[in-house]
Amino acid sequence: MAEKKLQNQVAIITGASSGIGTGAANALAAAGATVVVNHPVAATKDAAEMVLAAIKAAGGEGITFQCDVSREEEVEKMFAETIARFGTIDILVNNAGLQRDAAFEEMTLEQWNTVLSVNLTGQFLCARAAVREFLRRGVVPQKSKAAGKIICMSSVHEVIPWAGHANYAASKGGIMLMMKSIAQEFAPKKIRINSIAPGAIKTPINHDAWATAQAEEKLLQLIPYQRVGVVEDIAAAVVWLASDDSDYVNGTTLFVDGGMTLYPGFSENG
Ligand code: BGC
Repeated sequence: MAEKKLQNQVAIITGASSGIGTGAANALAAAGATVVVNHPVAATKDAAEMVLAAIKAAGGEGITFQCDVSREEEVEKMFAETIARFGTIDILVNNAGLQRDAAFEEMTLEQWNTVLSVNLTGQFLCARAAVREFLRRGVVPQKSKAAGKIICMSSVHEVIPWAGHANYAASKGGIMLMMKSIAQEFAPKKIRINSIAPGAIKTPINHDAWATAQAEEKLLQLIPYQRVGVVEDIAAAVVWLASDDSDYVNGTTLFVDGGMTLYPGFSENG
């Protein structure tokens, strides 16, 4: 059996009822962590329960927890109940995110606010709750060299501008500097905070961009490695950033994007 690097650690994965969050929950559980499979609303409960059932069937452990990460009282409750049940939290995967795309001149304040509230304020609220617990508990050397690890799910759009998606790109740019600022603030306390910037990964959020052969061909023009990513590509990076294998990695964004940030348009131009 493979070595379980995250044995006796507790991980909250926000937005784990689908996409990259599900992949991260599966991989963290396989690495030995007890997982909290967060999902946002009553309608996502069944999906979260299915994720948890698969994790348990594979020998993992965890619970599901409904919480809209943009709501302070719900976030506080998720952290309090997780700590009450499992004793502490060691890993936060700040993953919940969504898109509400619109041409800028037509973008409503609601579309703007929904994306900023979930993608950026949600990461703030969860990171703050996690940091408070990490500071309270400190390092437990039997478990990890760090007092806690936070992995923020960003995007290649923390650096690549994205027409028609100004709210989303703004939220991801915000995540980048929130992550770096708090990584700087809490490094002396042995809290490690990093981001992952996925490129195009096959999940429901970008279904239309890869669902047909034609769409996929167009998308591949943006990916030098000539393959659309899968959630397992991101999940492997999550486990690495959560484990002591990356103990000296702090305040960085790991791009997992098949080279999407390499300006592929310049390969035969410029
Ligand atoms: C977005 C996807 C998009 C990808 C690459 C992600 O952050 O959520 O919709 O396909 O970036 O552009």
